[in-house]
Amino acid sequence: MFAARSTPEFYAGKRVLVVGGSRGIGRSLAMTLARRGARVCIAARGEADLWTVAGELREATGRRHGHAVIDVTDAEGVLRSRDGILDELGGLDVLVCGSGSARAACVLDAPIEVFRRMLEVNYLGHVNVVRAFAPALMDQGHGDICLLSSIVAFVPIYGYSAYAASKGAVVAFGESLRQEMKLHGVRVGVYYPPTTDTPGLAEENRTKPAVVWKIESESGWNRVYSADAVATSIAGSIERGLVHGMIGFDSWVMRLGQRLAPGLFRRIADAEVRKAMRIDRDEHHEPVAGFPRQEPARRGRGSPRSRSGG
Ligand SMILES: NC(=O)c1ccc[n+]([C@@H]2O[C@H](COP(=O)([O-])OP(=O)(O)OC[C@H]3O[C@@H](n4cnc5c(N)ncnc54)[C@H](OP(=O)(O)O)[C@@H]3O)[C@@H](O)[C@H]2O)c1
Repeated sequence: MFAARSTPEFYAGKRVLVVGGSRGIGRSLAMTLARRGARVCIAARGEADLWTVAGELREATGRRHGHAVIDVTDAEGVLRSRDGILDELGGLDVLVCGSGSARAACVLDAPIEVFRRMLEVNYLGHVNVVRAFAPALMDQGHGDICLLSSIVAFVPIYGYSAYAASKGAVVAFGESLRQEMKLHGVRVGVYYPPTTDTPGLAEENRTKPAVVWKIESESGWNRVYSADAVATSIAGSIERGLVHGMIGFDSWVMRLGQRLAPGLFRRIADAEVRKAMRIDRDEHHEPVAGFPRQEPARRGRGSPRSRSGG
């Protein structure tokens, strides 16, 4: 794991809001920062999970941490929750936009509602949270905003059109936001989790198309990270003020490959799709609709990209 280095002091006494902090990466990040001395408030929709995690945070640190029920797709609801959260924390130093969900489906198979929902939760959800809480950071003239995107934002692979588009929107939003916030002394970072073992990934896997499964399982780069390892890396990236934070060695390789040799990168990725299609067709003993038989592809290394939904 390529983790940005972190010092124990940076988070001591910091007031941190982790949206999406009741499960998965957000939960691990809340725990990591609380253990480093931060005062944390976690926010999500499900109150039962929030209570459980708030209890775990208290047990781990011996200090009380807050929680708030919010739905990031409800802009007005997020705004209404703002004063209560700021009172609870006593202000704000670090804002983590960590909510999100993924759905893998091909463009023509997914109902348009999937495209809408991905944008509403993954993109507009971050926008709603930033619009509500950024003024608190701007007024005090310092602070950090952390936006969780995904590795598929720069490697948008087969079956992830709706999700990748929503995560790509986060990247563009974050870059623009960075310039605006810089004028107020507030730092903005966009971080790119790779495939991470979380309840969200388990949920995504329940409806994943067979071909996407095969692309992933045949890929030489489909490493699955633990939520704690990803959280440790994000904690370090926030501290260092990284504008873009890759997580894991393979993410760096993919990023470089895609930047330096995009044509080659695409050919390798396309070969992986063809291979997955062939395996799927052979298993079902029938041609795959819309995908003509291909000549055997040269056997090589896996594509330099991992499946990353979540
Ligand atoms: N896991 C991966 O492989 C992976 C890879 C790349 C990027 N990511 C990104 O990393 C972030 C966390 O992913 P994860 O896998 O840890 O997800 P997860 O296990 O499903 O946790 C998602 C968290 O977000 C909250 N949430 C979801 N929808 C919400 C909404 N509308 N309003 C408020 N809170 C909401 C959930 O709580 P409630 O459901 O109770 O609201 C939960 O606390 C997401 O942005 C995801 O896209 C994950």
